[in-house]
Amino acid sequence: MTQYDSDQRLTVDGTALEDVAREFGTPCYVYSAKTLRENWARFESAFQRQNHLICYAVKANANPALLRSLKELGAGFDIVSAGELDMVLSVGADPRTIVFSGVGKTRQEIVHALNHNIGHFNVESVAELERINELAGAQNTIANVAIRANPDIDAGTHPYIATGLEQNKFGIPIAEVPKLEKTIKRLTNISLMGLACHIGSQIEKCEPFAEAALSLEQLRQTMTELGFEITSMDLGGGLAATADAPTINEWIDALETTIPPDVTLKIEPGRSMVGNTGVLLTRVEYLKQSDAKNFAIVDAGMNDFLRPALYQGWHDILNCRLRDQEQPLTWDVVGPVCESGDFLGKERQLAIHQDDLLAVTCAGAYGYVMTSTYNGRPRPAEVLIDDGRATLIRQRQKDLAEPIT
Ligand code: LLP
Repeated sequence: MTQYDSDQRLTVDGTALEDVAREFGTPCYVYSAKTLRENWARFESAFQRQNHLICYAVKANANPALLRSLKELGAGFDIVSAGELDMVLSVGADPRTIVFSGVGKTRQEIVHALNHNIGHFNVESVAELERINELAGAQNTIANVAIRANPDIDAGTHPYIATGLEQNKFGIPIAEVPKLEKTIKRLTNISLMGLACHIGSQIEKCEPFAEAALSLEQLRQTMTELGFEITSMDLGGGLAATADAPTINEWIDALETTIPPDVTLKIEPGRSMVGNTGVLLTRVEYLKQSDAKNFAIVDAGMNDFLRPALYQGWHDILNCRLRDQEQPLTWDVVGPVCESGDFLGKERQLAIHQDDLLAVTCAGAYGYVMTSTYNGRPRPAEVLIDDGRATLIRQRQKDLAEPIT
C-alpha cells in the first residue's frame, strides 16, 4: 500500500503522506480505500461455497467511512456491544447479517439487539442462554442463538489475545456443550441454529484454525444426533496481518475443507480485513542521543496507538522521506506520554532528522479504536485516500475540557 515515489516521498496509492500531514496535521491515521476493496475481494474469491457470510469484526476499526464501504461491498458484521450495533445500523447494515459476540452482554444490550432482529447471538455461558430466553420470552419472540464453544486450542499468540484456551474467559468448554441438551430444549424462546468459536487474534499458522474447525464440526455432528439443526458454523477471526502469515486463501481453505458445504460458513475477520489498510503518521519532535540510547521523541503516544505498549506489538516504522544516502542509527521511537511503556518501536534502524514525518505501518486494525485521552491528549484525526483524494473521515478531537452536564 505504501511506496516511495521518484521524489523519495512515501505515498499511499499515489498520494504523498507529507501532503496529507500538511493538510490534516499529526498524529493522524491514513487509510487506503483501494487496499480495503482489495482485501474484501481476496476474501470473496477465497470462498468456494455459495453459503458463507463474512462478518467484519467492528472492534478492529469502527470508522463510519470504512463500515459504510464494507457494508456496500456486502459485509455482515460481528459486534460486541450496543454501541457497535448502533454504529453498523447507522451505515445501513442489514440486521440479519449481524452476529452479536461477547461474554458480558447486558440486559439492555440484548433487548436492543432483539428489537432490531439481528441474525444471531453468539452465546458464551449458560447464564446468558437463560437471560436471552427470558428477554425473548418477554417480547414473545424466539431468538436465534449459536453457542460459542471453547475448544481449548493453543493459537500460539500473545496471552492477552489468546481466547481459545480453557483458562480464557471465552465460550463454553466444548465438552460441556452436548450436556446442555436438556437445558436448551427447555428454553423455548431460543432456537439453537449455530455453533461458533474464536481462538484468538494475530495467529500466524493455519494449524490451530484447522484444529478448531475440526473440533467444531465434531461438535456439530454430536448436536445433530441430539436433534438440533445446526445451519451456521462461525469460525471467528484471528488471522495475522504479518508478511509471513498464511494468506486469506490458505485460511479459508483450512476451514472449508472441514465444514460441510450445505452449512453456512461464517468468519469474523478484523485485522486481516483492515490491518494493512492503514498507517499512523507522526512527526519527530526531538532527537535525544546519549551513550546508552538514541531516542526519537514523536508526537504520537500510547494514547494514539496502544499495541506496542500493551502487546509488544511490532509495527514497521518508515520515514516518509527516504534518506537512503544517510547512515541509519538505532533509535527507540517513543511518544510524549509520561510512561516508560510509551513507545511505538524499539531499536529501529532509521535515518531521521528532527521534524521528519514517520509512518507506523499496519495500523488499520486496533489503532484508532484503542485510542484514549490519557495525559490530556486529543484523539487523532483519520483520513481516507480514495482515487487520489484525501478526505478527513474523523476530526481530531477538540474539546478535552468538556463540562459535566
Ligand atoms: N471475533 C471475535 C469474537 C473476537 O473477539 C475478535 C477479536 C475477532 C472476531 C476479530 O479478530 P481478528 O480477526 O481481528 O484477529 N486489540 C488486540 C486484538 C483483540 C482482538 C479481540 N477479538 C490487538 O491489537 O492485537
